[in-house]
Amino acid sequence: MSETTTVPRVVLVTGAASGMGAGHARALAAAGWRVALADVSDPGPVVAEIEAAGGQASRHVLDVTEPEQWTKTIDEVTAAYGALHGLVNNAGISRRMRFMDTSEEVWRQVLAINLDGPFYGIRAAAPLMRESGGGSIVNISSISGQIGYFSPSYSTSKWGLRGLTKSAAGELAGWGIRVNSVHPGLVETPLLAGADGFVESAVASVPLGRMARPEEITAVVRFLLEDASSYMSGSELTVDGALVSNGLYHRILTEMEGELS
Ligand SMILES: NC(=O)c1ccc[n+]([C@@H]2O[C@H](COP(=O)([O-])OP(=O)(O)OC[C@H]3O[C@@H](n4cnc5c(N)ncnc54)[C@H](O)[C@@H]3O)[C@@H](O)[C@H]2O)c1
Repeated sequence: MSETTTVPRVVLVTGAASGMGAGHARALAAAGWRVALADVSDPGPVVAEIEAAGGQASRHVLDVTEPEQWTKTIDEVTAAYGALHGLVNNAGISRRMRFMDTSEEVWRQVLAINLDGPFYGIRAAAPLMRESGGGSIVNISSISGQIGYFSPSYSTSKWGLRGLTKSAAGELAGWGIRVNSVHPGLVETPLLAGADGFVESAVASVPLGRMARPEEITAVVRFLLEDASSYMSGSELTVDGALVSNGLYHRILTEMEGELS
């Protein structure tokens, strides 16, 4: 996006029918972005909500694992807005499955959605973003893409997305497109529904003492999409309440409370 852009900017958000993707879409629309919401589930209800609130949005049914569906979605965005300045690769699934329990099917499915999807998306969207004067791509990875995490498919997909981000950042810089990754820790969304024991134990390792609210991730996504981050590309932003940097010793010190002077 050129620094002098005055027309409303257009952003495509995947996985926008629920959870954080829907939250990003609502907040971006409220901030004046025209938002294309894409999801394998119908994002129509969220589009209706945005429109009722006075925002501009469009609905796109997209399975991110299918390259031809990406082509169709970008064609729809071109027809609707004639431009694209932002892409948020947010769609993702989690399988908290131990290494030896991970089947080929789960491995392939998680890699297909979490890693193939963003690759197809960047490849499909970049030419329109270039024609639009450049823009910003935000890939939603995870702290599981920064540390060893027990669930191999999820962790590998998120590490891969971090690498894809850095590769694309170099390649697309010449087209005026910035590419960065966001690494949330634990966030209160349906993705973690039913994982109460896991969440409770994990929060005990979070120095800030709680999960993130979805809007705390949205704020970082918006920062990376907009000109406030105009010199950032190939970067990764960790949004985890200090879990990765300090979680280990936070837990140790809590458990040893009173034993250390
Ligand atoms: N919730 C967390 O604690 C957390 C932490 C770190 C990273 N993340 C990442 O944030 C992103 C959003 O997570 P969330 O918690 O909002 O998840 P969510 O399950 O609430 O929403 C995910 C959305 O992706 C869509 N989706 C799934 N498969 C798809 C496909 N093949 N094509 C298109 N859309 C598809 C779903 O329909 C859903 O609307 C994911 O990439 C996730 O890995 C979440």
